[in-house]
Amino acid sequence: MNMLITGGAGFIGSHAAEEFINKGYDVTVIDNLCSGKKENLPSSVNFIEADITDYNFSSLFQKKQFDYIIHFAAQIDVRKSVENPIFDAHINIEGLLNILQSTVNSSIKKFVFISSAGVMYGNTDEPADELTPPAPVSPYGVSKLSGEHYLASYHHNHNLNYTILRLANVYGPRQDPLGEAGVVAIFANQMINRKQSILFGFGELIRDYVYVKDVINAVVKCLDKGNGEIFNISTSEPTTVKELFEKMRSNFTDIPDPLFLPARPGELDRSIVNYHKAKNILGWAPLVDLNQGLTSTIEYFKNLKK
Ligand SMILES: NC(=O)c1ccc[n+]([C@@H]2O[C@H](COP(=O)([O-])OP(=O)(O)OC[C@H]3O[C@@H](n4cnc5c(N)ncnc54)[C@H](O)[C@@H]3O)[C@@H](O)[C@H]2O)c1
Repeated sequence: MNMLITGGAGFIGSHAAEEFINKGYDVTVIDNLCSGKKENLPSSVNFIEADITDYNFSSLFQKKQFDYIIHFAAQIDVRKSVENPIFDAHINIEGLLNILQSTVNSSIKKFVFISSAGVMYGNTDEPADELTPPAPVSPYGVSKLSGEHYLASYHHNHNLNYTILRLANVYGPRQDPLGEAGVVAIFANQMINRKQSILFGFGELIRDYVYVKDVINAVVKCLDKGNGEIFNISTSEPTTVKELFEKMRSNFTDIPDPLFLPARPGELDRSIVNYHKAKNILGWAPLVDLNQGLTSTIEYFKNLKK
């Protein structure tokens, strides 16, 4: 089976590349390495350093028949999208279209689009399911929702089989500890270096943290199920940033108390997502609980420092 993974040198994409190499797939990764790293990839991956916005996918598809495409490559920074929505749309909409247009007349079995739950549903009192009307306010959320609509359009016009996974807050090894998102990686790095962490929203912001290996299990399960469907991939477990910080701190000694500051503009108070549709149709549920996932992630970052 031939698989193309865009953004496969990044945090989540590299776990997908590893999983499908281990399953015996022939895996090709396209990544411009703007945040991804080549060393995240197993050596047996066919790596193409290229930008999804101008790469000639048609000529690649003429050389090789892909069975599956998993699309992770994206501009992922919400604040950057507010500052420069044109750049965000260039990568997240035009980049996607550049690939989709090349799939026309190809016989790929499934296109998996990696979308985002938090930006789609906004603040949620109850865990939001897929019937909750999307209400993105950031350009990043708008570009992800546009991507979802484009997939439905390519299905309608060109019979493309696709599945959309709306991910909650993903954490795990290889997440960028210096990025704007990814609070687990940021705290891990700060704790290892005994630096004070800042808890925005006075530590009361609530999130739904899902471990990266569970996300990859969902990608595996949707290859042959859930055509034309959208699935939330989450744990439905609410955790405040303060609780997260304390769980992580218990893996260390002498961690300074955090600084509590107000939430930054645009930050959600509460983002919790219901994954029951994925359970019913894909037979997927998260297997890694937060304590377990945090321990593995902290171990990874500690080993990096050695
Ligand atoms: N991390 C999360 O919590 C989370 C939550 C919801 C959705 N997502 C989605 O998951 C996907 C992967 O996110 P991640 O957290 O692994 O981020 P990441 O930055 O580690 O991965 C993105 C990868 O895409 C590559 N890339 C970016 N622009 C590119 C371009 N123009 N051409 C080619 N490659 C390009 C980067 O170099 C990187 O390797 C994204 O689509 C993101 O929107 C992530």
